Amino acid sequence: MKSTDKYAVFGNPVMHSKSPRIHALFAASVNQHIDYEKRVALLGDFAGELQRFFDEGGVGANVTVPFKRDAFALAGSASLRATQAGAANFLMWRDDHWYCDNTDGAGLVRDIETNLQMSLKDKSVLLLGAGGAARGVIGPLLLRAPKQIVVVNRTAGRAIELVSAYEKQYAASALSVDALIVQSMKFDVVINATSSSLSGELPLPDSANIFASDALAYDMMYGKQPTTFMNWALRQGASRVADGLGMLVEQAAESYVQWRGVLPQAAPIIAQLRAELASESST
Ligand code: ATR
Repeated sequence: MKSTDKYAVFGNPVMHSKSPRIHALFAASVNQHIDYEKRVALLGDFAGELQRFFDEGGVGANVTVPFKRDAFALAGSASLRATQAGAANFLMWRDDHWYCDNTDGAGLVRDIETNLQMSLKDKSVLLLGAGGAARGVIGPLLLRAPKQIVVVNRTAGRAIELVSAYEKQYAASALSVDALIVQSMKFDVVINATSSSLSGELPLPDSANIFASDALAYDMMYGKQPTTFMNWALRQGASRVADGLGMLVEQAAESYVQWRGVLPQAAPIIAQLRAELASESST
C-alpha cells in the first residue's frame, strides 16, 4: 500500500461533508497519510466524475446523496449488504474494477451497540422511514437478532415494499402510521430514518406514545442542536436520545479499515467532532 493514496467523497451538494475531516483525523490517529477530497459530481454525471477521479489516481471513494444508487449500479462487484440496500456509500478499486459496499448499517449498529451500549438482541425496534436511509440500515439491524423490527412510513406502501425483501426470513413487518397509533405498541429502540428533521417536522403525530421504559430514540440526522425528533422523544418518555453523528463517524471507520487495513478508534473522533460542532454554533 502506498503511503499516500487518493480518496474522495462524491455528492451533490458535498460542501457540507465532514468526511474529509473525519478521514484526516483517522489517518493522524493511526500514523498514516491519506489524500481525501470533496468531489461534486453533476447530476447524471457520477460515472464521468468517478472516471476522472480514477484517471487522477483515485483508489477509493465514499458516496453520498444523491449518488448511492449510481455507485452500486456502476460497481463491478458488491458486498451482500450493498446488494440488499441496492445502494453503496463505499467504493474501492480492486484489480480491474470498482468494488462497492454499504457501511451505513454497520455504522449505525456499532454506534448503538458499542458507543451507546444498547444491545439490539431481543429488542423491539421501530424503524421510521422507508427511503434510502432506511433501506441502507434494515439488513444490518436485522442481523443483530432483535425481537422484531417494525417499519412505519408516512407513505405506507413504501414500508410494505421495503419489508417484503426481509419478512420471510426475519421478524420484520410494516405498519401504517394510523395502525401504529391504534395498536399503541411500545418499542425499546426507535430509529428515525426519515428526513423529517431537515424541515423541523416530526415523522409521527405529536401525541404518539411509543416508548417502552429505558427506550433509546435515535435520529440518523445530526446537527449543532438536538433535532426536533430528539426533543419530542424526550417529552414522550424516551430515556435516552442520540443523533447520527456517531453513525457518521462509524460508517467512515468501516470504510477506512477496508481501504487502509487499520480500524481507527471512533469514540475520540466523535467527541472531537461534537466539540467542533458546538464551537461552530457559538461563532
Ligand atoms: P433518504 O435517502 O434520506 O431516505 P428519501 O429516499 O427521499 O431520502 O426518503 C425520505 C424518507 O423520509 C421517506 O421515508 C419519507 O416519507 P415518504 O416515503 O412518505 O415520502 C420520509 N419523510 C420525509 N419528510 C417527512 C415528514 N415530514 N414526515 C414523515 N416522513 C417524512
